[in-house]
Amino acid sequence: MSVADEIKARLDIVTYIQQYVPLKKAGRTYKACCPFHQEKTPSFVVDPVRQTWRCYGSCATGGDVLNFAMRQHGWTFTEALRELARTTGVQLKARTPEQLQTDDRHDFLRGLLHSAAEQFHRWLIQPDTAPGPHAQAARSVLDYARGKRALSDETLIKFQIGFAPPEWSGLLTTMKQIGYTEDDLIEAGMAVRNDAGRVYDRFRNRLMIPIRDDRGRVIGFGARALDPNDNPKYLNTPETPIFNKSRTLFALDTAKGAIRDSGAVVIVEGYLDAIQAQQAGYGNVVAQMGTALTDAQLQLVAPRYAQRVLLALDSDAAGQNATMRSLEVARRALSQDYAGRMQIDMRVLSIPGAKDPDDLIREQPDLWPQIVDQARPVADFVIEFETRDLSPNATIVEKEAAARRILPLLMASERELYRQDNLQKLAAHLRVAEKTLITWAASQPAEPRAARRPPAQSAPRELTPPPEYDEFGDPIAVDIGIDDAPPAVQPAPRLPAPQDELALERYCLRRLIEQPAWVYAANQRLRTLSEDNAALSDGPLCDLTEEDFLDSTHRSIWSAIREALHSAQAEPGTHIEARLDADSVDVLIGLRVSDAAHVRASIKERLDGDAAVLWDELSKRAAPAFDAKEDLVVAVLRLRAARISRDRESLTVLLAESESDGGETRRLMVSLNVLAQAVRQLDAELSRRIR
Ligand code: UTP
Ligand code: MN
Repeated sequence: MSVADEIKARLDIVTYIQQYVPLKKAGRTYKACCPFHQEKTPSFVVDPVRQTWRCYGSCATGGDVLNFAMRQHGWTFTEALRELARTTGVQLKARTPEQLQTDDRHDFLRGLLHSAAEQFHRWLIQPDTAPGPHAQAARSVLDYARGKRALSDETLIKFQIGFAPPEWSGLLTTMKQIGYTEDDLIEAGMAVRNDAGRVYDRFRNRLMIPIRDDRGRVIGFGARALDPNDNPKYLNTPETPIFNKSRTLFALDTAKGAIRDSGAVVIVEGYLDAIQAQQAGYGNVVAQMGTALTDAQLQLVAPRYAQRVLLALDSDAAGQNATMRSLEVARRALSQDYAGRMQIDMRVLSIPGAKDPDDLIREQPDLWPQIVDQARPVADFVIEFETRDLSPNATIVEKEAAARRILPLLMASERELYRQDNLQKLAAHLRVAEKTLITWAASQPAEPRAARRPPAQSAPRELTPPPEYDEFGDPIAVDIGIDDAPPAVQPAPRLPAPQDELALERYCLRRLIEQPAWVYAANQRLRTLSEDNAALSDGPLCDLTEEDFLDSTHRSIWSAIREALHSAQAEPGTHIEARLDADSVDVLIGLRVSDAAHVRASIKERLDGDAAVLWDELSKRAAPAFDAKEDLVVAVLRLRAARISRDRESLTVLLAESESDGGETRRLMVSLNVLAQAVRQLDAELSRRIR
């Protein structure tokens, strides 16, 4: 839980605001004269369920308890966090002096590695500079790199490939001369202390490949043995304060541009596979460094830069098993789309002749694009893999077991699911009826950690339910002539649960962090819906604003996104992060991390009922291409619909309670009528989009 959430959990907004404003109960809400502007009739509403407040008068603003404190005391968000954390006894996670010190230390260690990389590189490309008697060795390593590995000088320089001589203290001596201590080198993973206390170089007689983070900073090394008898073949930097193998993709820093441009990333296994591919001009290739692919690695690239992920893992048995594991990771990590679809087009790339990409590209560089084009959809790969050992006369029990291994992956991708193609394929492969498969799919045992969402009724697709439920009595007839359409203030629609609203806010933010500029598309849609009616375009159908977010942390993230947009930064993510307080950064990081259970739960939810009917219905529909941008636009419209429905509810209460003050009543009616128009527009647009 973030600090802001913790504060909000402890501090009731009604209690807090009551210290400053005399609140009066009105329906399920509270009202008062707004403390932030002069008024005679109350237009300030506090909602105890949502824990929010809003002024419907001339301030036209609102928010959560933190926003109230900010406004009441003139605090910044960080100040409000600090003050309210103190009064509620919540531990603040600001950057402490210790953390600042840690940051400094990390910078220092990266500086050390940077120097080490330069040193190794110099020893390779200027062999005469190699220490002691190793100039000859350095020369033959350079020959190996240029010859057998076919690396151009340009590539050697671009990747800063180096040579660690067969010395116990080649690097140590040099680094100590610069001023680093043995302990520094040990902490950075470059030296080892043995039981006798002697300190020596970790990397000896190896081809040194610097590993960089996505910002291009050296954080470790992959070191290939030069003597075939040396084990292991690749020795890597161990876990250090700045190196975490499972959160790193090799060569991402140089691949990022190409990945973004093409929208696709190819993930290969080895350092030299990635280097070779990039050298041949296939810039979007990164390596996972021999470990099983992790979700943290995936999330470095997808869906932020890549909407298509191609796995090029070994095609031998071990490699296929690794591919399966990676696909499973991908399914968990990437099927987080709010609408319940896997956002990523995953494919498996197979290289003929069981070669690795390095060999293939070295021998036939022109084949690569073809191989990438022919990558198999995940479903094909999985079906084939899981049924490979199934004998032609397998029992139904064996078939069911295989199907149950396959179905989760087939189901995670809604695109596939729609086509029903995969089901047909699987049915054909297993020689069972599709209906049987559907039954199995519907009765998949729940996976652990799969948080169930509330019943489909409050699913995100239905944030503006039809107004069949009126909490406040008869519809109010309003006719004040600002609209030619017949007067139509419908009863305020039933409110979505606050949790759903917050989830929707997070979904919009998650998309906007990746693609800030998409907000323009959403604003454009809102403007179109307002049909040049200024009452709408300046009012309820205005561009997305911070008022669309209930949660103050979400608001501060939104503000940072908007700033990033205006400052034309190449790296919105970094820019946004730099603009936030520590607590919001935590939330931001949480937004980037998947909540993979979501989609599984939501798919399963849909299957829980009469699965067969549903599947039949789904299969009749064409596969809509997943359009992430359109998805954001729709999400923003829903966000706005939620905001308007909150406003309508409060205004309806204020109107019901307004004491026959002609002017005030009239003003509220005008506002309600404008909101009703906005709702009509949004509903029409959204119902066009609902599947
Ligand atoms: P491979 O053994 O497939 O190596 O390991 P490769 O890249 O084809 O090596 P060359 O072509 O013989 O030089 C693939 C990746 O697995 C990791 C490394 O990241 C390597 O690039 N690996 C492999 C290790 O970390 N340690 C090892 O001992 C072997
Ligand atoms: Mn290889």
